[in-house]
Amino acid sequence: MWKPSSSSPNVHSPLWLAPLRGLTDAVYRTALAHHFPGIDLAIAPFVTTHSGRRIKAAHVQDLLPANNRGLPVIPQILSKHPDDFVHLANHLFDLGYASVNLNLGCPFPQVANKGRGSGMLPFPDRVDHFLEATLPRLTGRLSIKTRLGRHSPEEIQALIPIFNRYPLQEVIIHPRTGVQMYTGHPDLEAFAACIDQLAHPVVYNGDIKRLDDYRRLAERFPSAAGWMIGRGVIANPFLPGDIKSGRDAGDNKVARFKRFHDDLFERYRLRLSGPGHLLNRMKGFWNYFPQCFRDSDKGRKRILKARSLAHYCEAVSLFFDRGPQWSG
Ligand SMILES: Cc1cc2nc3c(=O)[nH]c(=O)nc-3n(C[C@H](O)[C@H](O)[C@H](O)COP(=O)(O)O)c2cc1C
Repeated sequence: MWKPSSSSPNVHSPLWLAPLRGLTDAVYRTALAHHFPGIDLAIAPFVTTHSGRRIKAAHVQDLLPANNRGLPVIPQILSKHPDDFVHLANHLFDLGYASVNLNLGCPFPQVANKGRGSGMLPFPDRVDHFLEATLPRLTGRLSIKTRLGRHSPEEIQALIPIFNRYPLQEVIIHPRTGVQMYTGHPDLEAFAACIDQLAHPVVYNGDIKRLDDYRRLAERFPSAAGWMIGRGVIANPFLPGDIKSGRDAGDNKVARFKRFHDDLFERYRLRLSGPGHLLNRMKGFWNYFPQCFRDSDKGRKRILKARSLAHYCEAVSLFFDRGPQWSG
């Protein structure tokens, strides 16, 4: 398997948009790609499998190619059942996708306690069986997105030889454990061990929030096959372009950000049914949006407290009318 040599520059390694359920759906992905350069491809938030053969259109609505013209997308599946996984994955390949991604990282107890997502990581035999039972029957390629383990970063050590036995397209690693959720820091020592031992292209994911974060990581891991960014892009959609160009995108960021916000709002207004859904969806973004604005706490609280669309629009207008300073 080809890996860039440790001396080759990796400024052109692809930038991946991380899957963030409730945030990076097709509407967001398309709007992002329309307004900002830099992201090369996205993994869509997970879809789960259901037992039985029927796949409802609504279940894969977000993944219909017609809704995903802005950015190349890889669908992600969360499942522990090989047959159901194969059935859904092959349906997605029939829609035109070339590869799908297996979620082995979801940290939430309601998922992990059922042995899915990061809940599969303490059981190498189950992972082995899953890959053995699925890969030969898939009509397209498979990549994996994983954490270091569920309880301990050592768990990945038992998984690496298993991953190496199968023809995976990539392994994307968020170097935290499942129980850590998003606390503490990504374990870069453990990531270094993974990238050395894995025979597949390895994509780094976790806490890239600024150009400097990327630069430090890119210098330390020149053989990384790509860089996946989630929360950092939601808060600062200029970041991927800054990474690609190697410099800050410059002036006018607040006005450009507002145009993006307004377009996002309009796209969701056309897509979502009812003001409540629209309000909740937009508020979800405001958990991240203010991070790149100086002194934004009051404005953020006002927006998150909005109980109606009218209040929301008023609070957002006030936020921008007060002339916020960009600090990303
Ligand atoms: C709100 C939210 C939803 C997420 N949904 C998914 C998901 O559907 N699939 C997945 O593999 N990871 C999911 N993640 C994890 C992210 O893809 C990513 O691994 C994590 O946020 C760390 O990257 P970041 O620091 O660049 O955000 C989610 C994270 C958050 C905060």
